[in-house]
Amino acid sequence: SGRTLSFLVLVAAVCGARVPTNSSNYTFPDGFKFGVATASYQVEGAWNKDGKGHSIWDYQTHNETYLIADGSNGDDACDSYHMLEKDVALLKNLGVDFYRFSFSWSRLLPSGHINAVNNAGIDYYNGLIDALLREGIEPLATIYHWDLPQQLQDLGGWPNPVLADYFEDYARLLFENFGDRIKMWITFNEPSVFTNGYESNINHAPSIEAPGFGKYLASHTVLKAHAQAYHLYNNMFRETQKGNVGITLTIDWCEPKEETEHHLAACERFQQFEMGLYGNPIFSEEGDYPEIVKTRVDNISEAQGFRRSRLPKFTQDEIEYIRGTADFFGLNHYTTQLGTPSTVIDSQPSYRNDIGIHTEYDESWPESASSWLRDVPWGFRKILVSLKQRYGNPPIIITENGFSDREGHEDDSRIHYHIGYLTELLKALHEDGVNVFGYTAWSLMDNFEWNQGYTERFGLHYVNFTDPERPRTIKKSGKIFKEIVATREIPE
Ligand code: NOJ
Repeated sequence: SGRTLSFLVLVAAVCGARVPTNSSNYTFPDGFKFGVATASYQVEGAWNKDGKGHSIWDYQTHNETYLIADGSNGDDACDSYHMLEKDVALLKNLGVDFYRFSFSWSRLLPSGHINAVNNAGIDYYNGLIDALLREGIEPLATIYHWDLPQQLQDLGGWPNPVLADYFEDYARLLFENFGDRIKMWITFNEPSVFTNGYESNINHAPSIEAPGFGKYLASHTVLKAHAQAYHLYNNMFRETQKGNVGITLTIDWCEPKEETEHHLAACERFQQFEMGLYGNPIFSEEGDYPEIVKTRVDNISEAQGFRRSRLPKFTQDEIEYIRGTADFFGLNHYTTQLGTPSTVIDSQPSYRNDIGIHTEYDESWPESASSWLRDVPWGFRKILVSLKQRYGNPPIIITENGFSDREGHEDDSRIHYHIGYLTELLKALHEDGVNVFGYTAWSLMDNFEWNQGYTERFGLHYVNFTDPERPRTIKKSGKIFKEIVATREIPE
């Protein structure tokens, strides 16, 4: 009867919302993967060895030293270029399932263009990938983690639409050379962050000041570049290589500071500008930039006296070309912010003003060494649930999560952070039915933290940067992480 049917539907709905598990809520399901991450410029060093070209980070650290907290650079960093065997030994000891690293574009293509390949670069990455596979560690590769070849920046960098083609050529080189062994690809790491390098000069290379324009123009090219690489893989490589291609987006949870409609709306704008700008075109059913982003930027541009919107438009063909171009959702998540609406329209254009929000941190949230990072585990569950709802429950892999401090091996605050966040991840998985299949700790080891230089440490291993041998030693958090990976359980 109708009643029985609706009862069955109800039971199915309730059960379906829970991922079947074979044990308690503190256990990671079979097949759940653990890994740790790094990125080329942050660890490799060897900035000018064996034919490597210059990247925008080489340029910034050498020429705009004042932008780096300790005036340092990644010239040597962890020297992973010469120590890949050491790194792989650390990974083996941790027992991780995979290692997330990134390719340095300018190490492989010194000028950025495909006409001249640097074979020493190919050899280095072959050595790394083979060493990982020998130990049974899966490589998870990021194609672009912020170190654009300087020559492509000289052409304007990401705001120049031709970069989408150059990125596609670079991606093809990687698929051709390494795709037989790499089965998980991430096109871009955190577009919402590195495109800030075209918005203001305070954060990221190339430190171009074009508030209200640069970020949107850069993002527009990045989205096309991502889609081109995805389609290339689909058309030319998927059948033989059988891998997956996704993208890594980052987003903080935004908690309304007060429970009003306006506060809620401000946080929704924050999520849509910060993540929806990339997530909506790729992961939503309708594609394109979020409605709220288009309406705000179009209207504010007009109010500021512009003849056309500062936000570029996709054609219908482009919308369809970009939509659906990811096999999985890579999520970097670190922290939570409190949002309050701020609705005054500045006469000067800026991305921040387009969002219309003021954000801050609650004083009670434990601090890290990074001004932007507090230990707020419950926000992790909330963002996971909101991704599920927004994008139709895509397969999610946490591609970064981590905590910074300044010194030392006795890093209890990092342990507190990882345990808290992993516990919330398990709730999202077991209780909310979020389809999350892996977790990556940032980072394998302390490294060059961009504009903060070596002043903020995120590693599960301590690196002594004053010793030329760059000795790495496991921290207390590394030991706990190792235990979690081995037992697939959060320790009591
Ligand atoms: C995100 C970035 O991907 C990574 O490069 C950086 O070091 C960490 N967050 C910590 O800030």
